[in-house]
Amino acid sequence: MRKHTLLLSLFGLAVSPAQAQVKGTAFGFATGTTGGGSATAAAPSSLAQLKQWITDSTPRVILINRTWDFAGSEGTTTGQCCSTRTTTCSGGSSAGQASIQTTCDDGTWVSCTYDNAAKSPLDVGSNKSIVGVGSSGVLKGKGLRIRGGNSNVIIQNIHITNLNPQYVWGGDAITLDGADRVWIDHNKISLIGRQFIVSGWGKGGHVTISNNEFDGKTSWSSGCNGKHYWTLLLLGLEDWYTFANNWIHDVSGRAPHLGTDYTNSKIFFHAVNNYFQNVGGHAFDIDTNTWSLLEGNYFSSVTTPLTADSLTSGALIYDVPTVDSAGACNAYLGYICEWNRLSGSGTWTARTDTAVLTQAASLKQYLISHIPVADVPTKVVAAAGVGKV
Ligand SMILES: *[C@@H]1O[C@H](CO)[C@@H](O)[C@H](O)[C@H]1NC(C)=O
Ligand SMILES: *[C@@H]1O[C@H](CO)[C@@H](O)[C@H](O)[C@H]1NC(C)=O
Repeated sequence: MRKHTLLLSLFGLAVSPAQAQVKGTAFGFATGTTGGGSATAAAPSSLAQLKQWITDSTPRVILINRTWDFAGSEGTTTGQCCSTRTTTCSGGSSAGQASIQTTCDDGTWVSCTYDNAAKSPLDVGSNKSIVGVGSSGVLKGKGLRIRGGNSNVIIQNIHITNLNPQYVWGGDAITLDGADRVWIDHNKISLIGRQFIVSGWGKGGHVTISNNEFDGKTSWSSGCNGKHYWTLLLLGLEDWYTFANNWIHDVSGRAPHLGTDYTNSKIFFHAVNNYFQNVGGHAFDIDTNTWSLLEGNYFSSVTTPLTADSLTSGALIYDVPTVDSAGACNAYLGYICEWNRLSGSGTWTARTDTAVLTQAASLKQYLISHIPVADVPTKVVAAAGVGKV
């Protein structure tokens, strides 16, 4: 994997010096994603200019070299939020989250004040690279959304944080809804109201989510345990995901949730070498209309690595539970899969649906290679997140 990326990044540098602002080259399903390409990299000088550059239709390399704080920029709302047992958290180890919503059938209304900017993400135009400089790139109080057929976007080395973390529906960090060719690399996401990454019912398209830190530590948890519940919800119409080298820690649910029976969705998900650590709830929760190849992932102190629902939902899963099942990949993919490893975690139920390998064989050029699973905790923690690319 590392060797592969390095070769491609040398190639990228040869194309244009301006592209050096994005480090490396998109791999896996987002292969070919160039973002703003060779456009001259520039740092915006005001919040208004930042918004303009992100949302317009000019190809751009947008440098984020400071904290852009959107809190208060669109005002606040004081009103009623719905409080339930997961808000009051009796016996829990943290406070919960009240919900910003218009009905409250199973709870009671409480007054709440939230920031408006966090609830409306910036709609990213096509052909954009949004790139943090060193470890200084922070978007505070606003997320990013790629929708309406926009494509070719790179989001690299930025920290998205502080989107009304005390409220469910307070905001999503990154939304894909009618997108294609998106590379989300070396970012950190923390203190979010709702999802860290979410798709709508529209296409997510070809997406690579790599080397990110998903930090779920929070004082307001719907799991009542100081760990964020709403991690990744991916249920787009026609999606191919490479999910590699991510560090997912201190979360408690949907880490990730894949698939839906609500639409005729089709999702292929290749999870490689991710490190799931301190998950006080579930990691994989997989619904129908999905093909998931899960290899070389390391689960450390994960209560439920794979939910029971995933086993009965109709999801097709190849989760490489044994040496034999790793070797069986070879006939389909031309390589031996890496098995998954657990430490201090719940059960990893064996699932070896060969339909996943058949599907994967037809997508072979997008499959990336792995490092040994034993190296995952050290290497992923050293490389994931901001300031490390
Ligand atoms: C960000 O870059 C711009 C353009 O080079 C520069 O004017 C500005 O001082 C930089 N800001 C910080 C905080 O370094
Ligand atoms: C993005 O770039 C591609 C290739 O250069 C071009 O065909 C397309 O029109 C661009 N999209 C926008 C919205 O500018």
